[in-house]
Amino acid sequence: MTATGPHPGDIAIAVDAPGPSPIPDAFAIDAPSAHAGAPMVLVCRDLRKRFGDRQAVDGVGFEIARGETYGLLGPNGAGKTTTISMICGLLRRDGGEVVVAGQLVDTDTTAAKAMIGYVPQDLAIYPDLTARENLEFFGRLYGLGGRTLRARADELLEVIGLADRAKDRTEQFSGGMKRRLNIAIGLLHRPRMLVLDEPTVGVDPQSRNAILESVETLGAEGMAILYTTHYMEEAERLCHRVGIIDEGKIRAEGTRTELVALVGQRDRVTLTATGDLRAGAAAARRVEGVVEATICECGLDVLVDTARSRLPRLLEAVGDAGATVRGVEVIEPNLEAVFLHLTGKALRD
Ligand SMILES: Nc1ncnc2c1ncn2[C@@H]1O[C@H](COP(=O)(O)OP(=O)(O)OP(=O)(O)O)[C@@H](O)[C@H]1O
Ligand SMILES: [Mg+2]
Repeated sequence: MTATGPHPGDIAIAVDAPGPSPIPDAFAIDAPSAHAGAPMVLVCRDLRKRFGDRQAVDGVGFEIARGETYGLLGPNGAGKTTTISMICGLLRRDGGEVVVAGQLVDTDTTAAKAMIGYVPQDLAIYPDLTARENLEFFGRLYGLGGRTLRARADELLEVIGLADRAKDRTEQFSGGMKRRLNIAIGLLHRPRMLVLDEPTVGVDPQSRNAILESVETLGAEGMAILYTTHYMEEAERLCHRVGIIDEGKIRAEGTRTELVALVGQRDRVTLTATGDLRAGAAAARRVEGVVEATICECGLDVLVDTARSRLPRLLEAVGDAGATVRGVEVIEPNLEAVFLHLTGKALRD
């Protein structure tokens, strides 16, 4: 369940998932049921922070389960970095509480902070050391050493896809490669939760892809991940649940499906089809959840409440009516539309 703070205008959505879908998952974000019953790694409630007369964070709260990737999606200045700085115990909060792996986090607690791997927006690596030397340096700060540290460094260089650059000084690295190394540093001490603050801003496409793949792998291995971004596509690809944050408040929270349902948009299913299209369209209109079905250039164009659950029945009905379906394309409304709907603003500046 969500905790969105005591703001009557805010929307809280249950995160309980519908049953398993017969359609393969197109988006990780549509499969929250994978984490139902998983232990909570992060619980934060009613976080507040004011800078001067600006309320940067105004009652933010959410939870992240083991193996779950939670996205904080919001524009510049929304309060993402301030929120995660309080979660990581780096910034004193005005109010609220943070519990990580059962322990309260505060600016002066160390045990709980050791559960968190924090990758800041700004880079923190030494340019005149190699990638491996950076890892070993930070590893020693965490109290690692010897063979354990060398093995851990090797493992992490693989995770971030920089094994072949281990011996290069990082001053020669692209911004994206430095960012990847930063992620590896955040993982050295085997945290229970990884916190990534807009890790792909300004990075090259290859590094971006490597970062997204690392996040997916880590999540699949059971890491709880807090991922902030203002890129809708990343939130859609990586995050099981998303909190839409604007002006210091979580405006809505849920799976992609739950969030787009707020906008009330329909999924569009385009069937590349031949045969009796007229009968096919008539049959499609009789399928539960179908709002509209028309003949289009390539076959049939169908508007449906949720393509995911209706598609098997739709295909069967259209086929039985005498149309031969050769291809299916589903276009679902996206989080950008949800953001616009909730805030009246575009996600990007
Ligand atoms: N140390 C600070 N002193 C004063 N104001 C601050 C400070 N840190 C953040 N703010 C203000 O708080 C608000 C939230 O900032 P924050 O950095 O949390 O946003 P963000 O969502 O991380 O944005 P971005 O996407 O640009 O990183 C902004 O209005 C910002 O100017
Ligand atoms: Mg920020």
